[in-house]
Amino acid sequence: MSCVMGIDVGTTGTRAVIVRADGHVVGAATGDHQPMRMSKPGWAEQDPADWWEATVHAVRAALGAAGVAGSEIAAIGLSGQMHGVVLLDKTHAVLRPSLIWCDQRSQAQCDWIADKVGSDRLIRLVSNPALTGFSAPKILWVRDNEPEIFERAAQFLLPKDFVRFRLTGEFATDVSDASGTLLLDVTNRRWSAEMLGALEIDAKILPRVYESPEITGRITRETAIVTGLKAGTPVVGGGGDQASSAVGNGIVLPGLTSATLGTSGVIFTYTDAPKLDPQGRIHTFCHAVPGKWHVMGVTQGAGLSLRWFREQFGHSEAWYARETGVDSYDLFMKEAERIPPGSAGLLWLPYLMGERTPHLDARARGMWFGLTAGHTRGHLIRSILEGVAFSLRDSLEIFKELDIPVEQIRASGGGSRSFLWRQIQADIYGKELVTLRTSEGSAFGAALLAGVGAGIYSSVEESAREAIQIRECLAPLAANVQLYDRQYEVYRHLYPAVRDLAHQLAALGE
Ligand code: XUL
Repeated sequence: MSCVMGIDVGTTGTRAVIVRADGHVVGAATGDHQPMRMSKPGWAEQDPADWWEATVHAVRAALGAAGVAGSEIAAIGLSGQMHGVVLLDKTHAVLRPSLIWCDQRSQAQCDWIADKVGSDRLIRLVSNPALTGFSAPKILWVRDNEPEIFERAAQFLLPKDFVRFRLTGEFATDVSDASGTLLLDVTNRRWSAEMLGALEIDAKILPRVYESPEITGRITRETAIVTGLKAGTPVVGGGGDQASSAVGNGIVLPGLTSATLGTSGVIFTYTDAPKLDPQGRIHTFCHAVPGKWHVMGVTQGAGLSLRWFREQFGHSEAWYARETGVDSYDLFMKEAERIPPGSAGLLWLPYLMGERTPHLDARARGMWFGLTAGHTRGHLIRSILEGVAFSLRDSLEIFKELDIPVEQIRASGGGSRSFLWRQIQADIYGKELVTLRTSEGSAFGAALLAGVGAGIYSSVEESAREAIQIRECLAPLAANVQLYDRQYEVYRHLYPAVRDLAHQLAALGE
């Protein structure tokens, strides 16, 4: 039976999964990335060569784990961290490390864009405001600060599309990932000539845009040798990690919503037509379902908050994990489980890399609020889990305000592996939280898109019917819902109350 492969170029690693038509995952493997480099507050860079090495490792290892030959893979789909900027010169060499999705250095460029284009026109042209997270401000940062590099830039690519280039030799992207550049006319699903003109960016540097299941190129002979894939295997457009993950979670009908806890945290809902937030607090992007759209709210520091805690305060757990093979995150979860809901009045603001939804504020800063001498390390950990969920609830509140229906929430991403974090989410959202049989998320969704491209499924919607099954429905606990509702009222007023001070402090830190 032929299979399909999904490759997700994430932040911490690249994951390859091999999937049968019935949705069964027959093999999966990850190649790790070097940690992102944060040489100044708010800067975040990675080397594209590192993504490629991780891809080769993950693909070879996944084929080995599945016991599947390259010739049995009918098609490949790509998914990846969004918004990153890769610049190539005319010989196709990488010009500088990639400024990745969470890099916050381009506030001056965002202000310039808003001024030059005008806020209303921006929403009309590209459906979104200028945010430091998006690609265009990062491209302009390079133009303003490293003109000698920008002059040599012949090609701009998003992270997964750099990997596509190495796989197929083609410069291509898909509508969902292109939506996060601020250069796509999201309503009409093509590059915005007007926006490019206003920003004086040459359209020649952009890759060609495809719908997500469309074939964009084929595995080259050179790539076949290093990866074990078969030359000529088709590679479909795929999607940004959030749209791909949504496909993997079956978010292909109105009312279906996902809550993804990866490095970032995302609340994502399908829409039949582009749905705009006049304040730009949530993103309006093309979906990986052809001719459909989605909205999403993003928390920059979701899993990142917990990883930061582990790196700074979890040395003994890291040591114990190395010695025994247990997962150090499981140890943290056990510690947090012993603490009652509400963390005895301790709140965590997860703004370690600024914040998008709802504050749109690159200078937002994280904090614990409400610390007393009675708090223990367990309280700190539990408050991080709760603070991240409160931050995602901010997005759900905006959806409510805009009359975007949320009927079912599906949990996904690394954070959804913890029962405790799932229960906290159900209680804080006040809604049943559904988990699916496959938790592979983005890479799985990319594989389903490959299945549509290969003709195994007739549509993305059909792939969801064939390959996705519900595993668990977790109900919110009434007493916790009440407590968290009250705590959320404090949470949502907290950052606006200290915003000015946070900005002053951020300026001193810079
Ligand atoms: C989405 C976003 C993140 C990154 C990294 O807008 O910035 O999801 O794609 O996962």
